[in-house]
Amino acid sequence: MTDARLAAVVVLAAGEGTRMRSRTRPKVLHELCGRTLLGHVLAANRALGPEHLVVVVGHAREQVAAHVHEVDEQATTVVQEPQNGTGHAVQVALADHGDLDGTVLVVLGDAPLLTTATLRALVDAHAQAGAATTVLTAVLDDPAGYGRVLRDESGVVTRIVEHKDADEAARAVREINSGVFAFDAARLREALGSLTTDNAQGELYLTDVVGLHREAGLVVQAHVAPDVTETMGINDRVQLSDARELLRDRIVEQHQRNGVTVVDPRSTWIDVQVALEQDVTIHPDTQLHGETTVRSGAEVGPGTMLRDTEVREGAKVVKAHCVEALIGADADIGPYTYLRPGTHLGRGTKVGGFVEIKASEVGDGSKVPHLSYVGDAIIGKRSNIGAATVFVNYDGERKHKTVVGDDVRIGSDSMLVAPLTIGDRAYTAAGSVITEDVPEDALGVGRARQRNIAGWVVRKRGRKDSSNDHGKQQS
Ligand code: UD1
Ligand code: CA
Repeated sequence: MTDARLAAVVVLAAGEGTRMRSRTRPKVLHELCGRTLLGHVLAANRALGPEHLVVVVGHAREQVAAHVHEVDEQATTVVQEPQNGTGHAVQVALADHGDLDGTVLVVLGDAPLLTTATLRALVDAHAQAGAATTVLTAVLDDPAGYGRVLRDESGVVTRIVEHKDADEAARAVREINSGVFAFDAARLREALGSLTTDNAQGELYLTDVVGLHREAGLVVQAHVAPDVTETMGINDRVQLSDARELLRDRIVEQHQRNGVTVVDPRSTWIDVQVALEQDVTIHPDTQLHGETTVRSGAEVGPGTMLRDTEVREGAKVVKAHCVEALIGADADIGPYTYLRPGTHLGRGTKVGGFVEIKASEVGDGSKVPHLSYVGDAIIGKRSNIGAATVFVNYDGERKHKTVVGDDVRIGSDSMLVAPLTIGDRAYTAAGSVITEDVPEDALGVGRARQRNIAGWVVRKRGRKDSSNDHGKQQS
């Protein structure tokens, strides 16, 4: 009986990923739905609870290793240099962990769609059969490029042959190697010692372990993935967007099954970490990123992007771009609203069209309905900020704060030059430049008084050649 304990997961991520054609980003650090390729692989495998989670790095190793430590503090990395094939990569990982015993799961850093459930089923099937090797396979309509799984007349797996090494008969096989294997650690170590580079790519192939174990009379089996899309490996940016769509569908469906209305799944993008409560509605053309949370009964979209933002119960957010903002219950946001980090909107607030807010608190029931900039401000409750108000928070060197009390009425087109305090119930006159504090219950007026100059137009005309007046030609 093989030990069911999962001793280690080894993630292969040392390859260059030439087909991505990137000058700046190694393949496994490309992003889909809120995580990198490698980030998805680490999350799915971490949930299996392995004793060790080891990532084999090589190409752009500093960048990749830094990312591994950022997203999974307990994971470790080993360096494979040069990158002499998948078998070599696993040799390097095991050399670093000489005492492993039990099951070792090997996965690829470029296969982000594999779920914990499928990996768990693979490990369980491996333990139950007491196998030396269990390979995760899939049956594809177009198996080109993948390693093929060869079986004997009785259906027992005999070996894996890489596409480049396959003859016509082998290429006709549609069952492919996903690249994911469960191995018995001791048997794996033995077989890795017997690998050769006698193949089309001149590399040490991990896939050859299957044939070696078979020849040694050990139990070798295949576990067929229930969903072929899970085994998809990403090699170029076309496959990346294909995978992103598949993951998008999976994420949207899960929210729908939990009671979220997603009006148009195809134009809705939701990162894996996003939390949506029951009876949330997501309208078309909406993107929810990062640690975004939308609470019960809220409606988001159409045309909204939220990143690391919380939308509380019953709020509506239409055509808005919001980053690290908090939108209070029953708030009414948009259209065309930009909320930047540190925006906290209270319950029942209204923030309307062409309004930008950053690092500011807007109290319960207050409104910033039109064409305004609010920066570094604290606004009390039930106050109204008139159209085209600017919180002038920057003197060219430093940012300053503005405090607006409760029940305040800021007149349209006010410039509030910080630092500034506007007391409770105060008003400012429309068109004012307010540079000094306004006490509670006062009206602040900061503008030139209008005067009307009687007859001015007539006198002006009199000075001119009348034939040019208003462009009219007189004859
Ligand atoms: C591999 C398998 C193939 C399988 C396919 C599934 C081998 C020999 N072939 O082929 O049977 O159908 O995956 O997608 O295993 N890597 C290293 N070090 C190396 C080489 C590769 O860490 O020296 C890593 C890569 O970063 C990548 C993974 O291993 O994440 C797979 O390598 P790749 O070159 O993409 O293998 P395939 O040709 O796709
Ligand atoms: Ca690959």
